[in-house]
Amino acid sequence: MKFIELAKKRVSIRSYKPDSVSDELLHEVLEAGRLAPTACNLQPFQFVVVREKENLAALAAGYPGDWFKEAPVVIAICTQISKAWKRKYDERTLVDVDAAIAADHMTLAAADIGLGTCWVGAFDPKIIRKALGVPRTVEPLILLTLGHPNETGRPKIRQPIEKLVRYESWK
Ligand SMILES: Cc1cc2nc3c(=O)[nH]c(=O)nc-3n(C[C@H](O)[C@H](O)[C@H](O)COP(=O)(O)O)c2cc1C
Repeated sequence: MKFIELAKKRVSIRSYKPDSVSDELLHEVLEAGRLAPTACNLQPFQFVVVREKENLAALAAGYPGDWFKEAPVVIAICTQISKAWKRKYDERTLVDVDAAIAADHMTLAAADIGLGTCWVGAFDPKIIRKALGVPRTVEPLILLTLGHPNETGRPKIRQPIEKLVRYESWK
């Protein structure tokens, strides 16, 4: 499949079959995240894979969407700011960008092998932190639901390319 076809194929999936995700498929998704580029190759994150019913329920308590409970797997992408590269001019880190690229690699790899994902950012961080048992220095930034899709997803609505892209300058 050409990359552009895969990019079109990946849609957010918010309904999952109860079937579990095999270790082999899960590994392929995680491997795509592992291979993602990061600033200065510092890889300032960890992926927490949640599959146990009790632990999934603890995560679901931190997100209002009922569909979240259907996902057989949730991957929490947790950033470690102390390990992130800092820009020398203003000490800004790009840790969220690093995590987002890893997440995007995982969603695309999942789509490539027929699995569905949805990014979840609108969670209650207090509940999610407690559910994952992360230390203070670690931030759960993104939750990715993962499973066998039970829907085709919504049509892609995007800005037309003429409104999105400017050439040479903002004008
Ligand atoms: C950073 C980020 C956070 C998101 N958070 C949520 C969320 O909390 N709940 C949800 O249902 N979808 C969430 N989404 C999914 C977006 O709504 C979705 O990607 C967008 O509507 C485009 O649809 P598509 O993914 O099907 O192409 C999030 C996506 C991104 C990139």
